[in-house]
Amino acid sequence: MPGLSQLIRRKPIAELMAEEGHPNALKRELGAGDLIMLAIGAVIGAGIFSSIGTAAAGEINPDGTVVRYGAGPALVYSFLLLGFVCGLAALCYAELASMIPQAGSAYSYSYATLGELIAWIIGWDLILEYAVGNVAVAVAWSGYFNSMLSGFGIHLPDFLTHGYRAVIKSSDPEVRALLETAPRIGSMPILVNVPAFLIVMLITGLLLLGVRESARANNIMVVIKLLVLALFVVVGVVHIDMANFEPFAPNGWRGIHQGAAIVFFAYIGFDAISTAAEETKNPQRNLPIGILAGLAVCTLIYVIVGVVATGLVPYQQLKGADPLAQALQLAGLETAGWIVAFGAVVSLTAVLLVFQYGQPRIFYAMGRDGLLPRWSTKVSAKARVPYITTLITGIVVAVGALFADENEIYDLTNIGTLSAFAMVCIGVLVLRITDPHRHRPFRVPFVWPVTLVGAGACIYTMFGLPAHAWERFAIWLALGLIIYFAYGYWNSTLRNRPGAGELGDPGAPNS
Ligand code: ALA
Repeated sequence: MPGLSQLIRRKPIAELMAEEGHPNALKRELGAGDLIMLAIGAVIGAGIFSSIGTAAAGEINPDGTVVRYGAGPALVYSFLLLGFVCGLAALCYAELASMIPQAGSAYSYSYATLGELIAWIIGWDLILEYAVGNVAVAVAWSGYFNSMLSGFGIHLPDFLTHGYRAVIKSSDPEVRALLETAPRIGSMPILVNVPAFLIVMLITGLLLLGVRESARANNIMVVIKLLVLALFVVVGVVHIDMANFEPFAPNGWRGIHQGAAIVFFAYIGFDAISTAAEETKNPQRNLPIGILAGLAVCTLIYVIVGVVATGLVPYQQLKGADPLAQALQLAGLETAGWIVAFGAVVSLTAVLLVFQYGQPRIFYAMGRDGLLPRWSTKVSAKARVPYITTLITGIVVAVGALFADENEIYDLTNIGTLSAFAMVCIGVLVLRITDPHRHRPFRVPFVWPVTLVGAGACIYTMFGLPAHAWERFAIWLALGLIIYFAYGYWNSTLRNRPGAGELGDPGAPNS
């Protein structure tokens, strides 16, 4: 029978900081500028280039039942609402990241504030954000890659660009026809998204080369994505038809709320740069700058792109794998549409890179604490990269992307990430109460309202997601608890160090 004291045992912050300099330590290479670029690299991707379509237009099942209502042109309100929600969470991340600059991000913060069990649950949720989220990004990447290829007159066979789940969930008769026309193995149709698989494997190879190389590649991709979105806005704004803004909010607040719950995916990532804490120079100063400035820039871009996209074409036409490119093409701007498809391919590559980078570092932090097997902390001799977990993450995400449906993944990722954000907000408050005198290089202003409204707003956004997301999230959590009680509980470093880290243990205080 597990002892309650271990479940709420917290990892002393002093000890978290002391992990610096051990033989498996990562290399400090990144400055504030790199972090802002990394944030933009992580944030602007499948959300704005792809999930924006479902958020505006809504989603229906093949049998005609409504999965979610769309926001219509009022999508811009969804973006503003999310900017507010994420702004509150970002303040909390900034405080914790500056105080506890650790590779494990929210996982490490909650270990120091809310105890081992909650930390495990958050670490487990972060897999939904990073690895599972990247499955959706890879599928979106493939959608834009195919539309870019078709600009060159190249068409890959449909059964090699559509995963099985995506086909059976589609309400498009042409896509569903693949169930009959695809080649078969026995009675099973072969429906696999090969480009999505290959891009993830390629990124994994790049990451194994080392972090400096990865950050450099990211910076180039970020510049391209900003240029392409600027092109979309400049070309699109003069073709806005005011009639498309009527009705402005076709499904009222319900549409704005449910639209926000899916397009939240577009905001995920400003927190991901906290996983680079152990590779950042002067993290106390640079992490808050990277997180807050990155989020501010992205919110501004989303609001502008949202207005232009819903003004270009009737919002119902934004449905599809490549809504921004389609919007331009439907407005008669073929070349610009093709350039945007190219830009999306580059942008989504950057997102894949940042999340494939972040996930192994969270595993690394969890392995170091004994909650995952020790081999997950192994770092390669030359590049100083956690190579085993980088490789495992790559293979799992790539195989998932072969079969997945994008929208299902957005929902699961969003619910997991929002719950982690809510816990981070609560964690800041708890630590202010339990450890008020610790030096905080960055402090959340108005800590009570910011943390409580932040947590409440995250939970409210979660309620905009469909029932299936909640069911799968519950299954995911149950699985996580089974693994924790079968492995992590028994192997936890804190557990196996007699007396260390006990709540209230004078030998290992949290301050
Ligand atoms: N925010 C990231 C994206 O939209 C995850 O792709």
